Amino acid sequence: MIAEFDEYAPAYAELLQDPLRDQFAADPNFFHERKWMVIRDFFARHNLNISTSTWLDVGCGQGQLLNVAKGNFARAVGCDPSAAMIQSSPLAEVHHQPSDVELPFPSNSFDFVSAVCVYHHVHGELRTALTQSIRRVLRPGGVFCMIEHNPWNPVTQRIVKRCPVDRDAELLAASTARRLARESGFQILDTTNFLFLPEVLYRRAAWLEKALRHTPMGGQFAVFCRAEDAGE
Ligand SMILES: C[S@@+](CC[C@H](N)C(=O)[O-])C[C@H]1O[C@@H](n2cnc3c(N)ncnc32)[C@H](O)[C@@H]1O
Repeated sequence: MIAEFDEYAPAYAELLQDPLRDQFAADPNFFHERKWMVIRDFFARHNLNISTSTWLDVGCGQGQLLNVAKGNFARAVGCDPSAAMIQSSPLAEVHHQPSDVELPFPSNSFDFVSAVCVYHHVHGELRTALTQSIRRVLRPGGVFCMIEHNPWNPVTQRIVKRCPVDRDAELLAASTARRLARESGFQILDTTNFLFLPEVLYRRAAWLEKALRHTPMGGQFAVFCRAEDAGE
C-alpha cells in the first residue's frame, strides 16, 4: 500500500516549517514535549501508573513523541500506514499498519493508545473504523487519547491552511472527537486544551496554560476516554 505520507517523509521537517509555527516555538520538539506533559498530567490526575502501562502510538509518524516519552512506560510501540515515515524513526519500536484501519496487534494488548494529529488525515467512515480498531487493541478499562489541531483557533487554522502536508486536512472539533469515541464504546474522561502560549512565555508561565485547560481556544486539544468493559 502506498500511503499519503510516503511522499512527505523525505522532507517532512522542512514541509512543516511555517513562520507562525517557528515563532511559536524555536525548537520543534517543544510541540512533542507539550503533548507528553499533557498526557503525564492526565495520568497523575487520574491516579494511573505510567511505569506499569503499555503504550501504542497510532500514526506515530517519525516517532518523535515515542522518543520523548517511551522511557516512562513499561513498553512503548508505534505503528503507521506510511512505511517511509516509520523508516525515519530508528529509536523506537515501530510497526507497519497494513491499512488505514487495521492495527497489527492482538486484541487487548495495550493500557494506553494515543493518536496524535492523525484523525484530520482520516476521512468519513474510516474514522469510526479506526476508532473501533483502537478500542479492540486496548485492554478493558484502557485509555485512548486523541490529540488534534483545534479548528476554533485562528492561528492553527492559518498554519494548517498553508501547510503542504495538510492539503487533505479535515479538522475536527473536540466535540466531534468525543462523539466518535462515544460511538465506539468509550466513556469520555477529560478534555485538555493546550498550546495557548508560545514556548518563551510557556517557560515562564506554565501555570497559565494549566489554568486555561478548560478553555476551548488553545492551538490543540486532547480528548481522553476509557474503553468500557463489554458488560458496562
Ligand atoms: C501529521 S502526521 C503526525 C505524526 C505523529 N503522530 C506526530 O505527531 O508527529 C500524521 C500521521 O498519521 C498517519 N496516518 C494517516 N492516516 C492514518 C491512519 N488511518 N491510521 C494511522 N495513521 C495514519 C500518517 O501516515 C502520518 O504519519
